[in-house]
Amino acid sequence: MRILLLLFLLSVPFSWSYSVTDVKNDCAPRHLRLSLGYSQTEIQFHWEDFCEEETGTYVKINNQTAKGFSYLFTDDDQIKTPVTVHRAFVSNLTSNTVYQYQVGSDEGGWSNIHQFKTLPATTPLRVSVWGDMGIINQRILPQLLNHSFDFAIHAGDFAYNLNYYNGYFANKFFEMISLYYPLTSENIFETCPGNHESHNDFSYYRWRLSSRLSTPMYYSFNVANVHFVSINSEYYFSGTSAERERQYQWLESDLRQVNRTNYPWIIVYGHRQMYASGCVGRNLESKILRDGLEDLLMKYHVDLYLCGHQHYYERMFPVYKEKFEKMADNNSYVNPKYPVHIVNGAAGCHEMLTPFNYGIKNYSAVRIAHYSFGIMTFFNETHLEWEQFNSHGEKIDKLTIISGVLPPTYQHDSLLH
Ligand SMILES: [Fe+2]
Repeated sequence: MRILLLLFLLSVPFSWSYSVTDVKNDCAPRHLRLSLGYSQTEIQFHWEDFCEEETGTYVKINNQTAKGFSYLFTDDDQIKTPVTVHRAFVSNLTSNTVYQYQVGSDEGGWSNIHQFKTLPATTPLRVSVWGDMGIINQRILPQLLNHSFDFAIHAGDFAYNLNYYNGYFANKFFEMISLYYPLTSENIFETCPGNHESHNDFSYYRWRLSSRLSTPMYYSFNVANVHFVSINSEYYFSGTSAERERQYQWLESDLRQVNRTNYPWIIVYGHRQMYASGCVGRNLESKILRDGLEDLLMKYHVDLYLCGHQHYYERMFPVYKEKFEKMADNNSYVNPKYPVHIVNGAAGCHEMLTPFNYGIKNYSAVRIAHYSFGIMTFFNETHLEWEQFNSHGEKIDKLTIISGVLPPTYQHDSLLH
């Protein structure tokens, strides 16, 4: 690992334009990122600078200018080069429409003009998903950007680690995904925290990455006819019982309130897995999260639980408490009575792929150790397709989930007996 880090640090001056020691008083907007606002037609614009003076926070979009706010990130005075974080919301945008935008201010300078497309109000909806990318050995971005998708989810473990070297890794990671590859500057990007973000109570994630300042560690949002829920699996490994209980109560309340007529699909994503058959020592870890949250997924008929953490791709049969439902067709789950779990932490990172050194579990339908990412397409209220592509662009797995719309009086508990 040390050799890889050294090689990376030696390569940085040649591949990027600045280092953390020479960014002082640079007021140019950088690290551009888009996320969903508090409704489907609201976009949150994120960017940062290293300016010693206070500059303005503005978004120019389609001949209009919106004002935002900024704050200084000092990691509780743990870093030498404070970062100014800018955020601005623009609402009442038209769905499924391409907009051009610029961020910055007259005092600090303006970014280049970028463009993005707002989310569709109805299906079809395409979402790209992966975890565990890293800045050293990220493997998916060139192929990912060859695919069309409406927004992206990175399920934790971003830079290995954001806080390393006085935040240098955070700066490089954000530069990589916004500028070198225009992923976050031109696509809506949603997240959840992983174990590699746990430094200083997730300070980098909380203040520089999460798309929710008021509830940074877990939140939900609706797009088209899908209810998405981002959770913090790390509460079960580095959190307190009070934090676990607060998230549990919030999650139960959130799931209980979903109108399944309007939102027949529920997708929950977190960093760690509840099921993985690939490696020794992960069973206890999976069980801890299962014991914590699996009942809620089952009770409220969550369709998919997506995660990373294990550095490979693995798709389970519909499963609950290790009871699984074997389907006639491995690639088509028809009216599954249990949630489907997909492990998808194979986007790269210096730890590289995790080899399969443990016998496959009977609830595992497919497992593939390729660098890869997923694209899920919601065609309508009953048909969802998952495709997994490797770093060469080859499709390595495909799953169709066909699920009936549940009437409001449906008793989920009946499935538990
Ligand atoms: Fe992880």
